[in-house]
Amino acid sequence: MAQGQANMTQKIVILTGAGISAESGIDTFRSAGGLWEQHRVEDVATPEGFARDPDLVLGFYDARREALAKVEPNPAHHALGRLEREFPGELLLVTQNVDDLHERGGAEKVLHMHGELKSALCMACEMRSPWDAAMIERPPCPVCQAPTLRPDVVWFGEMPYQMERIYAALAECDLFVSIGTSGAVYPAAGFVQEARAQGAATLELNLEPSEGSHYFEESRHGPAGQLVPDWVAEVLGS
Ligand code: OAD
Repeated sequence: MAQGQANMTQKIVILTGAGISAESGIDTFRSAGGLWEQHRVEDVATPEGFARDPDLVLGFYDARREALAKVEPNPAHHALGRLEREFPGELLLVTQNVDDLHERGGAEKVLHMHGELKSALCMACEMRSPWDAAMIERPPCPVCQAPTLRPDVVWFGEMPYQMERIYAALAECDLFVSIGTSGAVYPAAGFVQEARAQGAATLELNLEPSEGSHYFEESRHGPAGQLVPDWVAEVLGS
């Protein structure tokens, strides 16, 4: 993206994926051949897997939540925090990640379309509650007291959060940026085409060309910890 174009940009939508958290030490999904932390995705990221073996799934997400305490946001998260504070136009930061590294990197208005590790969803009253503890012992829902909590994570076959808001922002943005995502999972993988159809400029920042790389006007390849701070400095003109 040319400097002049960066200066004219008023509305940006950013989509992030597991690649932005890789340098913080969180495994990406597709790097280990379909396994996620030694588990099959079908076992730990589908409603069917949960119905089959709830203890396995609750224990798995308890471990992922606990592991968050041992990782730190990296320069890419901090750069997006800076962008949120300093960009004078409109910015929507959408993440597929369930970690809290964007927030800890200073971004306060993050849309977690695939849910959050630090949130619980009650299967009885359907309320979402901030959650920091384990779920394996079936603690009561803070709202209705039923012992029916599950991780507030969107599994395969479930509807991601706030799609209407995301599509409305994509329809209006003049720049769509995808960071650290393989472009393998819809609907997020289709955002670039949606933004392009509405006339937005499109930019990919990823370690390597993603599956949807050819849909982007511009692709930059390398680690997010370097590419993202450089791009943010460009947008902010510093
Ligand atoms: P993936 O694991 O599919 O893709 C991660 C992408 O990040 C790959 O294209 C890597 O090349 C890239 N990458 C790795 N290290 C990087 C680095 N240091 N800097 C920049 N890029 C890097 O993860 P997602 O695209 O996020 O969904 O996966 C999408 C969804 O699939 C997830 O949200 C999850 C998963 O199944 C659900 O759980 C519903």
